[in-house]
Amino acid sequence: MILLDGKAVAKDRRAKIKSEVDSFKSKFGKAPGLAVVLVGDDPASQVYVGSKEKACAKAGILSQRFDIDKTQNVEELDSLLNHLNADQDVHAVLVQIPIPKPFEYRSVLELLDPRKDVDGLTYDSMGRLWSGHKSVAPCTPRGVMEILKYYDINVAGKKAVVVGRSNIVGKPMAQLLMDENATVTVCHSKTPSLEEYTREADIVAVAAGKPRMFGKEDFKKDAVVIDVGIHRLDSGKLCGDVRFEELGGHASAATPAPGGVGPMTIAMLLQNTLDLATAIETRKLK
Ligand code: GUN
Repeated sequence: MILLDGKAVAKDRRAKIKSEVDSFKSKFGKAPGLAVVLVGDDPASQVYVGSKEKACAKAGILSQRFDIDKTQNVEELDSLLNHLNADQDVHAVLVQIPIPKPFEYRSVLELLDPRKDVDGLTYDSMGRLWSGHKSVAPCTPRGVMEILKYYDINVAGKKAVVVGRSNIVGKPMAQLLMDENATVTVCHSKTPSLEEYTREADIVAVAAGKPRMFGKEDFKKDAVVIDVGIHRLDSGKLCGDVRFEELGGHASAATPAPGGVGPMTIAMLLQNTLDLATAIETRKLK
């Protein structure tokens, strides 16, 4: 079984992004800029946002963080987004999920200029992706496609099953696989006899959100298994949606979790920032 080593792929991609950021700087006289908006004090989000800031610094991307206290009023967040939309040094904006009430993710997100939507989650970006005119795709499914490409796993003509139908992973994952000519089935928590679908698939991307839910018996021999889940068990150990240790000698390739898709999400955030920045600055030259 080939171990799909997301950490190694992310390292390779981040080195390439860094050199592309250097070219961007010489061409446009500024760094690509990412604004990260963190609402409330969710401890996991604090950690994620910290890692995103560190990765930006390493790649030469200018990141700015904006903390909004959950007791602040909705208008303050609205005016922050208006300010970021207008800021010439901000090319990309990420509003970290989850956000606490009374803030509402969708209404916040729709205030964002879609040209700065680094997560690809505004209605505009989602519509573009589904209609074949994509701006940027959400980071996690984009990261999965990069892993497949890095390991020369051809998806054209293959049967792919995506487990999960979220806007941030499942739906865009299905679209990206279709873009590469896979035949895609999307399953979810209400799909009866889920394993009947996963067992038929050449490629399975699992974003079910349930720790260690899937094992060897759920996949056909020589399947490619991509685990998008990440969970912290009571023991403190991290695990994915798949019992990775069962897959040796059965799957043809699989991502571990941790160390698979996770590191790619951050690498693709850098890539999306660079892509949006390039589009914005190139438009200004015209
Ligand atoms: N929370 C967990 N993952 C993500 C992500 O990729 N983007 C945003 N905006 N929030 C997240």
